[in-house]
Amino acid sequence: MRFSIISIILLLLLPFLASCVQKQVYIVYFGDHSGEKALHEIEETHHSYLLSVKNTEEEARASLLYSYKHSINGFAAVLTPEEATKLSDLEEVVSVSRSDPKKYSLHTTRSWEFVGLEEGERKQSWWKGSGDHVLSKARYGQDVIVGVLDSGVWPESKSFSDEGMGPIPKSWKGICQTGVAFNSSHCNRKLIGARYYLKAYEIYSGPLNTTEDYRSARDKDGHGTHTASTVGGRMVPNASAIGGFALGTASGGAPLVRLAIYKACWPVPGHSKADGNTCYEVDMLAAMDDAIGDGVNVLSISIGTDKPVNYTDDYIAIGALHATKRNIVVSCSAGNSGPTPSTLSNIAPWIITVGASSVDREFVSPVVLGNGLRIEGQAVAPSKLDNKLYPLVYAADIANPNMTKDALGQCLPDSLSPEKAKGKIVLCMRGLGTRVGKGFEVKRAGGAGLILGNIQAAGGELPCDAHVLPASAVAYNDAVRILGYINSTENPKAIIIPGRTVLHTKPAPFMAAFTSRGPNVIDLNILKPDITAPGLNILAAWSEGDAPTKLAEDKRIVKYNILSGTSMACPHVTGAAALLKAIHPTWSSAAIRSALMTTAKLTNNVGLPLSDHSGNHATPFAYGSGHFSPTKAADPGLVYNASHSDYLHYLCTFGSISKIYPKFKCPKSPLAAMNLNYPSLAIPNLDGAVTVTRTVTNVGGSKSVYFFTARPPLGFSIRASPSILFFDHVGQKKSFTITVNVRSEMLSTLNKDEYSFGWYTWTDGLHVVRSPMAVSLA
Ligand SMILES: *[C@@H]1O[C@H](CO)[C@@H](O)[C@H](O)[C@H]1NC(C)=O
Ligand SMILES: *[C@@H]1O[C@H](CO)[C@@H](O)[C@H](O)[C@H]1NC(C)=O
Ligand SMILES: *[C@@H]1O[C@H](CO)[C@@H](O)[C@H](O)[C@H]1NC(C)=O
Ligand SMILES: *[C@@H]1O[C@H](CO)[C@@H](O)[C@H](O)[C@H]1NC(C)=O
Ligand SMILES: *[C@@H]1O[C@H](CO)[C@@H](O)[C@H](O)[C@H]1NC(C)=O
Ligand SMILES: *[C@@H]1O[C@H](CO)[C@@H](O)[C@H](O)[C@H]1NC(C)=O
Repeated sequence: MRFSIISIILLLLLPFLASCVQKQVYIVYFGDHSGEKALHEIEETHHSYLLSVKNTEEEARASLLYSYKHSINGFAAVLTPEEATKLSDLEEVVSVSRSDPKKYSLHTTRSWEFVGLEEGERKQSWWKGSGDHVLSKARYGQDVIVGVLDSGVWPESKSFSDEGMGPIPKSWKGICQTGVAFNSSHCNRKLIGARYYLKAYEIYSGPLNTTEDYRSARDKDGHGTHTASTVGGRMVPNASAIGGFALGTASGGAPLVRLAIYKACWPVPGHSKADGNTCYEVDMLAAMDDAIGDGVNVLSISIGTDKPVNYTDDYIAIGALHATKRNIVVSCSAGNSGPTPSTLSNIAPWIITVGASSVDREFVSPVVLGNGLRIEGQAVAPSKLDNKLYPLVYAADIANPNMTKDALGQCLPDSLSPEKAKGKIVLCMRGLGTRVGKGFEVKRAGGAGLILGNIQAAGGELPCDAHVLPASAVAYNDAVRILGYINSTENPKAIIIPGRTVLHTKPAPFMAAFTSRGPNVIDLNILKPDITAPGLNILAAWSEGDAPTKLAEDKRIVKYNILSGTSMACPHVTGAAALLKAIHPTWSSAAIRSALMTTAKLTNNVGLPLSDHSGNHATPFAYGSGHFSPTKAADPGLVYNASHSDYLHYLCTFGSISKIYPKFKCPKSPLAAMNLNYPSLAIPNLDGAVTVTRTVTNVGGSKSVYFFTARPPLGFSIRASPSILFFDHVGQKKSFTITVNVRSEMLSTLNKDEYSFGWYTWTDGLHVVRSPMAVSLA
């Protein structure tokens, strides 16, 4: 009798106890599909697994967030640790992993510097000149479907008009999902699909704050509109950023491409929108699975981590591997954690990893000091100062007394004394806080203008933001000169000359300071990033749902905005990949990447090697194969192909295949990682000599002869066998080996921890097929 009373009490307490147990989102992963089951059957199977650990049918249904069913086989659900353990004990279950709530964010540098650095402008027509031919050959991309995983889209932007576009490709299986301020009438023949994903977001971050974002594919942030229009925006004449900067015809890389929007990034609760947003892996995986099922040809992902993540823990990599099986090209941002080495994001060898560089356009806004010294700054601030000298102060000298020492000079919120700032130009240094936020603080304190000084790590890379007051950004060396001037005189003064757009600036491109750098520490045998594209000060379409600075106090609304980040570089390469897909519809995703990489440029517009943000030589750890060159990529001559199964063999060597493709039977002696047929070559820890194998496929003229040439990395010699390749038909494959030797006479000059860089090419006189290489000594 007593016993049952206790039971009853326990029963009454049960709901309370259960709610105390920490619930988490788990991904229950089964690998891939055999392809025999209908979608609803797969869903039912997932449900039955859940039911085996949940008490009721209802509970099972409520806990299921997503059923991944198009290419990836698995589901995401809310589970207790015990339920997760039970599921992982089941034989068919490959893995049950607790999802990491905070790994991913958009790769714009608008957010906190040094966590995710920067933003920029969009190049008006990177395919100008002979590239027009490529555009028309690709029919401007109109038969290609590009999925954009991001913060949504502003569908009313002229960049997404479908005027004059033909019917939607028959292969399209996606939808236009209805939501807040978004219904089927917002999709058209340009914007052919739109979906949104926030189930994991809401579990971790609480209900979406509907004043901060739309519960739909509509983009409040602006980032998704920016990247989508960079991939495939229509040609819009007379587009410009705030203040009329960068005026001209705005156009995406593939202006008639079809866009499918997958919104998976949302505001971070309790943070200013200027701080950036968050993208949960469970939501992104659902978006990628749907994109694969919907039939996209190319996927653009300007999202990542701020440090390298192992392939098996990286759901962008896992989703992309499944995409590769359907021959979908996946282009991703390399990250904004540079210039520190070993900071790359999105490094899987089946992804195109895109770094960021400058374009040949500047928004020149010189600063003239009271002593006559003229400093070349840049700005896109819309308002102008009078053409007269204003008192000039360094922020640290007018800070409120309660400021901590390391924040001095940074112009963080509420840091400046209004009495001391009033009517003055204030020099603020980058480092902590957002750049636009510093401008806002100077304005709040009554300052007249802002000089934004680079810290040393940023060198001469000048980010142009839509500041809320007259402003000019200056290089590190110039900031030091201005400080010296302020120290040297009783009454320092300065003029900020209003900015203007200057085209064809030199040298360009140079690597952005923020772009993440190699080596690829997850696998030193794969050289990353793959390529670089414009990512500094890029103009593209913007959301009219929010201000260009994202500051709560900024009430301005714009149609186009300037941003920087590898987020902006990635969609340039996506657009180029879409054009290649249109011209060569049968090419594999690896062939398209190879064409982009082997034709990339290593020189800038004054004919010198690509440099970094401080004028020093850049290396393949910043730019990969070089700056993308879509026109040349359309006719690469030879390609380094690789199939989905090659990547699985690669993972066999890597030792993690069973975590992703459990049913794949690895060969007894799988190929060495460095023999993956990659268009670049990395050899870490070389002891004596090493020989690698590569295979090229002829995609140029039917009869051709290619000769080997090389510029070996300093201290090494390199030899190809054979060194001449004869082709007599298109599609023909030829294999060769490359042997790299340490030059013993150079041993004493080589440093163990340092990489040497070089390249090798195959050329038939018409095509130059170049592969960069990085070698280090054991
Ligand atoms: C979609 O929303 C717009 C308003 O934004 C409205 O005018 C239109 O009637 C709606 N269309 C459908 C099909 O509901
Ligand atoms: C939602 O966001 C607005 C504006 O950012 C803020 O004022 C409000 O407090 C937020 N609401 C909640 C419930 O957090
Ligand atoms: C271009 O835009 C400017 C400013 O918005 C406007 O004054 C001008 O008339 C426009 N020109 C054309 C050709 O639309
Ligand atoms: C520092 O002082 C200013 C003005 O006296 C104030 O507005 C601000 O909130 C203070 N900041 C901190 C971090 O205490
Ligand atoms: C300017 O003076 C401050 C101290 O007031 C000092 O910390 C700083 O190093 C000086 N800067 C230059 C560039 O001379
Ligand atoms: C990545 O994961 C694989 C498989 O779990 C493991 O063998 C490898 O050591 C990991 N690599 C790094 C750099 O953590």
